Amino acid sequence: MGRTRYLILSDIHSNQEALEAVLRAVHRRHYDGVICMGDLVGYGASPNPVVTRIRKFKGLVAVRGNHDKVCSGLEDGRNFNAAARQAAMWTLSKLRPENKDFLKSLPQGPKEAAPGIWLAHGSIPEEDAYLFSDFDAYQVFESSPFQVCFFGHTHFPMVFQQRAGNVELIPLKEDLVELTLMPDARYLINPGSVGQPRDRNPKAAFAEYSPESRRLVVRRVPYDIASAALRIRRASLPESLANRLFLGA
Ligand SMILES: [Fe+2]
Repeated sequence: MGRTRYLILSDIHSNQEALEAVLRAVHRRHYDGVICMGDLVGYGASPNPVVTRIRKFKGLVAVRGNHDKVCSGLEDGRNFNAAARQAAMWTLSKLRPENKDFLKSLPQGPKEAAPGIWLAHGSIPEEDAYLFSDFDAYQVFESSPFQVCFFGHTHFPMVFQQRAGNVELIPLKEDLVELTLMPDARYLINPGSVGQPRDRNPKAAFAEYSPESRRLVVRRVPYDIASAALRIRRASLPESLANRLFLGA
């Protein structure tokens, strides 16, 4: 049986430098598909380069994030904070038509990428809900028959494992974490955010997964934060969006 390998990306948030650093780190790796849990844009200052690059991936399976909806005009962003809304309105004005159409065409999650392997932006029952606690995870495990579901939205890398009815949080605190998923367990996996990490580690976060071996690798890679921040300042977007990249917060 051939071995399938997926690249897993979430919450890129118009951060071209972070996305390029991730792709450089894996440029010798072959992937059969790319799983993307949404929020390609918003906050950052490179929406067109990021969306153009994502559109080129072979075997892309993606769902929309809340920022993708507002930045493409599908929603008005009235539930966003001021900085997020300002960045979304700026993005809406800058997106080329083909990139805006691509964002509008992204499906609502959850979606099945392969048998048993699902993806969702925030949560399964509600695409924009935040999945943070083991209780949140328990409810999601009970809601749907997935084996493994990748999610994003919180920008915090974490794994929830459900085995024999118990839900356990597996923290992802190192820059390289390798796990072999148990065949008799189910998993909710957040690889963290490529373009706006919030767990006090400013490095870009991503994962890869091989279903046949059940091998999950979650990685952090450094990127040129100064350049990404400078783009945000030059676009006259809120200073806070530049500063938080250095902190990973
Ligand atoms: Fe996000």
